[in-house]
Amino acid sequence: MIPFINVRAQREAYKSEFLQAEQQVLDSGCFIGGPTVETLEAELAKYTGSAHAITCGSGTDALTIALLALGLEPGDEVIVPDFTFIAPAECVVRLGGIPIFADIDSEMLQISAESIEQRITAKTKGIITVNLFGQCAPYKKIRNIAKSHGLWLIEDSAQAFGATQYGQNACTFGDISITSFYPAKPLGCYGDGGALFTQDDGLAQKIRLIANHGSRTRYVHEICGMNSRLDAIQAAVLRVKLRHLDDELKKRQENARKYDEFFNAIQGITPQKIADGNTSTYAQYTLLVEDRPAFLKHLENAGIPYCIHYPQPLHEQPCFKELVQVRGSAANNASTIKACKKVISLPFCAFTNVEEIIARLKKVM
Ligand SMILES: Cc1ncc(COP(=O)(O)O)c(C=O)c1O
Repeated sequence: MIPFINVRAQREAYKSEFLQAEQQVLDSGCFIGGPTVETLEAELAKYTGSAHAITCGSGTDALTIALLALGLEPGDEVIVPDFTFIAPAECVVRLGGIPIFADIDSEMLQISAESIEQRITAKTKGIITVNLFGQCAPYKKIRNIAKSHGLWLIEDSAQAFGATQYGQNACTFGDISITSFYPAKPLGCYGDGGALFTQDDGLAQKIRLIANHGSRTRYVHEICGMNSRLDAIQAAVLRVKLRHLDDELKKRQENARKYDEFFNAIQGITPQKIADGNTSTYAQYTLLVEDRPAFLKHLENAGIPYCIHYPQPLHEQPCFKELVQVRGSAANNASTIKACKKVISLPFCAFTNVEEIIARLKKVM
């Protein structure tokens, strides 16, 4: 059976490194925080070029902590993409804010700078961008918009740790940037995990405070914070994977090129476009397919698994319906609606046998 993401092949490839790193943590008796987590944070900061990297319990926690650190208050509006995983909008709502859904561009599928600008009101406090499927959003335009309107910017790079835009690393475009180490991510651990990145010393201090029960000194709680931390065992796993990340990204890009070559020759199927100046981690390899039901049948006949990221615009999700209708969170996002009808993601990682998938498809299409 072809796996959608082959985490087992990855474990086999670096098994002795994993076993050694895991054993060290287990023998150390230090399971939360401590030297392994600190070393990982230093390595993440160095890799991205951020002054600060602060690990936490998940990408969703990272978004919540970022919103708290930036001072989100009930009733504040935050512009988020309509076409993405729910976490950015969900975290805004959890803190009493109002997500305002911006449209995407129809080829790159990234949040559209023009749509962001149209959604700005007197209540807008910030923007959360998502580096969707592994490539960066259009930051030159978006950062200019944020600056000229006095808005903060959170870069959600859950899917794009390791991506670049004109040579600048993902996780360095926001006032705060975040990533997720969910196992299926390009840099994933063996459970939940996440991290925040910032160049700002003051924000870094706030983030650490919030993530650690509002406490700098044991049993002194300056604010009401939360408990969000990365386990040492996950940090050990991530340190091994980080050493191999650049090689894996090269393999991912080669695999994407092979898929692209095949699908570009087929009418009615278009791979997600990568913007000029971007390198992608290909967290997902995603196609836009005119006749999706017919293509799904081909995949099923060929025994190829697939996922639909994402089947519905966020503004249509039951949990946001009232918000959209009653509170006027804008939602006539034509490109998002179209994308939801056309997208399909194929099996993809550094260990995916793309040739075999293409060969199987050739037999049935
Ligand atoms: C764009 C985006 N943001 C946030 C998250 C949340 O990350 P986590 O699952 O680590 O909480 C995800 C996870 O899938 C994601 O894709």
